[in-house]
Amino acid sequence: MKTFASLFSGCGGFDLGFTAHGFRPKGAFDCDSEAVENFSANVEGPVNRVDLTVGIPNEHFLRGIDVLIAGPPCQGFSTVGKRLVNDERNHLLTLTGTLARRISPRVLVVENVSGALSGEHSRYLKSLDGTMRLAGYRTYTMRCQAADLGMGQLRRRVLFFAWRTGRDSQFTVPKVAPAELRAVLVGASKQPNHHPQRLNVHSREWQIAQRIRPGQKLSNVRGGKNAVATWDIPEVFGNITEQERTVLELLRRLRRQERQRDNGDADPVSLERLEAALGSRFHRLVERLVAKGYLKRVDGGIDLVGTFNGKFRRLAWDKPSCTVDTRFGSPRYFLHPTQQRGFTVREAARIQGFTDDYVFRGSEQAQFRMIGNAVPPPLGAMAAGLAKRLLGTAA
Ligand SMILES: C[S@@+](CC[C@H](N)C(=O)[O-])C[C@H]1O[C@@H](n2cnc3c(N)ncnc32)[C@H](O)[C@@H]1O
Repeated sequence: MKTFASLFSGCGGFDLGFTAHGFRPKGAFDCDSEAVENFSANVEGPVNRVDLTVGIPNEHFLRGIDVLIAGPPCQGFSTVGKRLVNDERNHLLTLTGTLARRISPRVLVVENVSGALSGEHSRYLKSLDGTMRLAGYRTYTMRCQAADLGMGQLRRRVLFFAWRTGRDSQFTVPKVAPAELRAVLVGASKQPNHHPQRLNVHSREWQIAQRIRPGQKLSNVRGGKNAVATWDIPEVFGNITEQERTVLELLRRLRRQERQRDNGDADPVSLERLEAALGSRFHRLVERLVAKGYLKRVDGGIDLVGTFNGKFRRLAWDKPSCTVDTRFGSPRYFLHPTQQRGFTVREAARIQGFTDDYVFRGSEQAQFRMIGNAVPPPLGAMAAGLAKRLLGTAA
């Protein structure tokens, strides 16, 4: 039986894919006590609470193992966060290479977000690649989409493989049609970890949710039928005139056209540009919209208030879910297709491909964090199948 060990094992999503393929677990390592508790209660094999920057206890025990898997934190690479190149968590990808060299597995598989491949952030994955090549491994970086495995979730990820088995391998995987959210959530309400929390009727959030239909989100920075702007919900954000609406929509367009910075996809609009577009009435209109809380002055220009691209995202029954992240329980970010609430832990776990016999423990916040951070078990299983090919065992 082939063996594997797991670094940054979280609640064990990646590991479940490998045990499902018959790999025997030798050890899993994570520093988070709640993750370790959940792993220990639900996933096969020994798990250890360890800060991997300090090292792996009894590391020699893992030397020469068949497969080492690692899911180092992705927050520093993800487009959801601040994406700081020097986020100290990014170095854990480099650390993975250092630990892998010491353990010397026959195959290494590392999962991360696709942001780890773009721009300056790619230096960490390149460093991992360089480390493994120097140690005599062949390497391959594969982009994958969870929905192409038949999952009910759009989740783009990167799998990095390094192997020293003397084999060539093909990293092609047959594409399967994505599942609809409706099919994924059938019967979820009868399972553990399902505690829906409906929004209080007439609360501000409930009023916003009432205006968002399936497939839509609250967004001031994008036009089109799937974006509902704050000014489309006057009962919450305040009334505006038709003339003021024209100004807000003009600003939404101009802020993406008149670029000043290299990063991001929009900038505040200069007063000159607004004056050229709106003429002498521009001062009065802008003043009114600033007073109403729809515009703000920034860096000598004017910008919209609320430049997030998408909150209160309402999922649709007939489509796969968007990416499950750690905020999936909050209706401020994700809304159930037909009810005025966010998702339950069980629903998030189902969308991530966990089976219902995985019972989550600890605070709800921690449960959503672990599920959002997990490698979906079906993606783990796909990686396990490819690792088997690299090892020369039947997939
Ligand atoms: C992306 S999650 C891993 C998900 C996991 N592979 C799964 O499939 O469920 C990253 C994990 O790295 C852990 N972590 C972060 N820094 C660590 C460190 N210094 N040592 C050990 N674990 C760490 C976090 O606690 C978190 O569980």
